[in-house]
Amino acid sequence: MRTAKYHHGVDIRINVDGRITTSEEAVVPALDRGFLFGDSVYEVFWWHKGALIQEREHLDRLEASARRLYMEIQASREEIVEAIQTTVRAAGGGPDDDAYVRLVVTRGAGPLGLDFAKTPRQSVVVVAAPANRPSDEDVQRGLRAALVDRLRLSAKALDPAAKTGNYLNNVLALHEAKLAGADDAIMLNARGQVTEATTANVYAIKDGALTTPPTDAGILKGTTRTRILALCEEAGIPAAEATLLPEALRAADEVFLSSSVRGILPVVSIDGQAVGSGAPGPLTLAIRERFEAAADAEAEAAQPA
Ligand SMILES: Cc1ncc(COP(=O)(O)O)c(C=O)c1O
Repeated sequence: MRTAKYHHGVDIRINVDGRITTSEEAVVPALDRGFLFGDSVYEVFWWHKGALIQEREHLDRLEASARRLYMEIQASREEIVEAIQTTVRAAGGGPDDDAYVRLVVTRGAGPLGLDFAKTPRQSVVVVAAPANRPSDEDVQRGLRAALVDRLRLSAKALDPAAKTGNYLNNVLALHEAKLAGADDAIMLNARGQVTEATTANVYAIKDGALTTPPTDAGILKGTTRTRILALCEEAGIPAAEATLLPEALRAADEVFLSSSVRGILPVVSIDGQAVGSGAPGPLTLAIRERFEAAADAEAEAAQPA
């Protein structure tokens, strides 16, 4: 039986095309198109007690992202899941642990130039790292958000529905939120509608009903978002995918963000102005509890008999 005394938790280990090393030793070729152009797709998984939470949803989205880049993933789902599990185990992940898993499939290295016609072999990179899940205090403290001027990319330019290695739109928005003294940015689209945060979906609660922007606002369809909408339905909490304007976001009783590893995080202020009471709201915390319980149940169900 495991004792806490001998357990050191999860380290960083990186698997590049089957070779697992420390982060210092992990390298990809300089001509890899993921490095040169952001020509790659990726997923971030929450590895929880041995299980990859919402594994199928993430693998479905990986393939959907690839299709949007005219790319077909060469590795099979079984190979990808095996690479992830082997890497997390090499990082020290045990049955009681949480880990962050980043899976990157790049178009690979080829001749210089934009044309990818002669790029024969994709590269698969898995990063396993400590999960850094928010503590109860982090949740109580909540996040300060800023509605930044930078727009989320147009779906007609580079559809945010694809999770690609091109994240400069989000990188710059996050930096601008930090410059404004906030923890994360919430971005609008060209129509002035709320889209999402830099690595999370966004929700507003008003008078007991939840609203989250629809996919045609130009967002990544979060796996956590899908689960939250289902949990709300089960719990009888009215929840709709509907256009959300910045005024409605500012006037909400509660606002929260969601993403795979962090789960649900309350937003306590927007542009320095308190959301509701300025503390995490009761519905946000109730939904968070249901979300955490659903992940525990999923991990339990995935245990070998
Ligand atoms: C832009 C963006 N939106 C939303 C999400 C949330 O997606 P998920 O719940 O599948 O982690 C992410 C995840 O990292 C993201 O990068």
